[in-house]
Amino acid sequence: MIKNRSLIEPEDFSITEMESLFILAEKIEKDDKYLRESCRGKLLATLFFEPSTRTRLSFEAAMLRLGGSFLGFAEPGSSSTAKGESLADTIRMASSYADAIVMRNPKEGSALLAKQYSSVPVINAGDGGHHHPTQTLTDLLTIKQLMGRLDNLTVGFCGDLKFGRTVHSLAKALARYKKIKMLFISPKELVLPDYIKNLLKKQNIEFEEREVLEKSMPDIDVLYMTRVQRERFFNEDDYIRLKDTYVLNPDKMALSKKDMVVLHPLPRVNEIAVEVDSDPRAAYFKQAKYGMFVRMALLASILGVKEII
Ligand code: CP
Repeated sequence: MIKNRSLIEPEDFSITEMESLFILAEKIEKDDKYLRESCRGKLLATLFFEPSTRTRLSFEAAMLRLGGSFLGFAEPGSSSTAKGESLADTIRMASSYADAIVMRNPKEGSALLAKQYSSVPVINAGDGGHHHPTQTLTDLLTIKQLMGRLDNLTVGFCGDLKFGRTVHSLAKALARYKKIKMLFISPKELVLPDYIKNLLKKQNIEFEEREVLEKSMPDIDVLYMTRVQRERFFNEDDYIRLKDTYVLNPDKMALSKKDMVVLHPLPRVNEIAVEVDSDPRAAYFKQAKYGMFVRMALLASILGVKEII
């Protein structure tokens, strides 16, 4: 049962629970009226201490489509955080006003701290370079929809694998499925953190670290492009030097499988040329839309209006 549960890391839900959410999201996608108004009278707090377009708007759209309402802030400057209020006190307050909290915060571990001070479920919408579990639900649902499976896949992660929290969450989640091979393509300065690599090694997951995207293209079933995370760099010169290391363009797409899919959590900066958008394998805008359906399924389940498994 997902009712009243928080979601801080991808492993907080079992594979069976995630599968149930995907089935629910697929029903919502197919039937515009399904679960409409089911959350009438419920309130969602959306507390965003960092910028967001997709995560915040899709959660708010999800809540409105379910008939509920939301309250919150899109940047901490408009909250009492600007006056020095602690995260613990902010969460105590929000949880006394709302039925669930969605929070994005630049500090790793902040979502876990929020859960400890909240009397209602907390959904992690990104804690620094750590995790982004609802993006992972979005990514897995998109792969399942477009590839028809979540096992027996070669998944290429490309770009900023050091700071990219969506990569950390998705790699950990995919490690729970069978016959998954991961290719981690990044500059040396932006390789995947050791703690994720150690987890993959412990689980005997096949993975390779590479530097050249072109060489990897023919092997990949799902290519997960990411932007270089400017906001996590200490030094602007390093960001400028590394930001255009990989640019996916039609020449590189020509090297890939005909049924490959290209995902990107977005926002895109320069790492996917706009010419790729019209390629049928480019699925990142579709992916962002699935994000709303899976967040509707998640909210309906957490708020207990739809009981699954
Ligand atoms: N994918 C994602 O987290 O996008 P936003 O930063 O726009 O929410």
